[in-house]
Amino acid sequence: MNLSSEQLHQLIKNKIKQAGLSDEHADIVADVLVFADARGVHSHGAVRVEYYSERISKGGINANPQFTYEETGPCSALYDGDNGAGHVIAKNAMDKAIKMANSKGVAVIGVKRMSHSGALGYFTKHAAEQGLIAISMCQSDPMVVPFGGSEVYYGTNPIAFSAPGPDGKTINFDMATTIQAWGKVLDARSRNQSIPDTWAVDSDGHPTSDPHAVRALLPIAGPKGYGLMMMVDILSGVMLGLPFGKNVSSMYDDLTEGRNLGQLHIVINPEFFTTKEYFIESISQTMKELGEIRPAPGFDKVLYPGQNSDLIEAKSRKDGIEIVDEVYDYLISEHTYINSYDHKSAFNG
Ligand code: NAI
Repeated sequence: MNLSSEQLHQLIKNKIKQAGLSDEHADIVADVLVFADARGVHSHGAVRVEYYSERISKGGINANPQFTYEETGPCSALYDGDNGAGHVIAKNAMDKAIKMANSKGVAVIGVKRMSHSGALGYFTKHAAEQGLIAISMCQSDPMVVPFGGSEVYYGTNPIAFSAPGPDGKTINFDMATTIQAWGKVLDARSRNQSIPDTWAVDSDGHPTSDPHAVRALLPIAGPKGYGLMMMVDILSGVMLGLPFGKNVSSMYDDLTEGRNLGQLHIVINPEFFTTKEYFIESISQTMKELGEIRPAPGFDKVLYPGQNSDLIEAKSRKDGIEIVDEVYDYLISEHTYINSYDHKSAFNG
């Protein structure tokens, strides 16, 4: 089913409002999810609406949060989200960081007590569209073995980086620190297909190609990805006084409780380090030079990070956003949720 971004936005917003969020908050959640679907990041788009709706309905996402914002130094602040919708909290905190970086050059804002905030590139791209460099990272539920381990400790702890380029273009690097997203394992399960044995391990820590046997995901690049996910956990968890490592709340454990997750936004105004003209011209040159690199066998062109999603977004604008039937059927259904997620283990279902 192909939908325009306006149609998809309205369907998502209706469901999220039906679950209990205000018009304003539902609007922001819908915006972040449509952004992901339009850019081909379907793992973080409309497919998540039923989960969010169940959690909002059961109180595990606070429908009436009292946000607090406290500047703790010249370039630092804490944003407390009172366990409201993560997308709204992360966006509000990014707006504060943009304002601070514009006037002070740098902003480091710790975002605490939030729920899942979706595709992090939404927030960093928003800053890059205003001429700023942004980095964001957040905690996620424990699903990954540390390098050399056979039990989970860290989450898929994503990192996003965006930078402004010429003519409104932006660079958008946005990734989980695991080799493959959990959604891809679920997809292989539903199709009864094997997976590459580099993605995940079974209950003994052995690499597995059976998606049903997966009990943990693997970090990207072995000890290097493991180090990155630790960095994310320290900066967006430990540093903000939140639960960390394997103590981070699970996505599906208890949908009546707030998740108390953390996220860190770092925003830098390049004009405090070089001229705006030099920065934009250099990014323009970087994009051009990368695009002129001779492609490797099997590739058409070297793309800069995020360019693949820019191309998908342009196609979505023309042809509509592709939404799988199961998700569309839910979005147009009467019910808010059908109890699919509460107290489910991510691995065992
Ligand atoms: P991915 O593997 O689809 O993409 C990773 C990066 O590679 C992106 O920047 C993409 O633009 C770039 N890329 C892909 N193909 C490319 C190509 N041909 N040339 C150049 N660059 C290319 O991303 P992943 O790891 O599956 O993450 C998906 C989303 O999940 C992200 O938005 C991330 O923020 C989100 N996420 C959110 C979590 C949360 O708790 N909120 C947890 C984990 C992930």
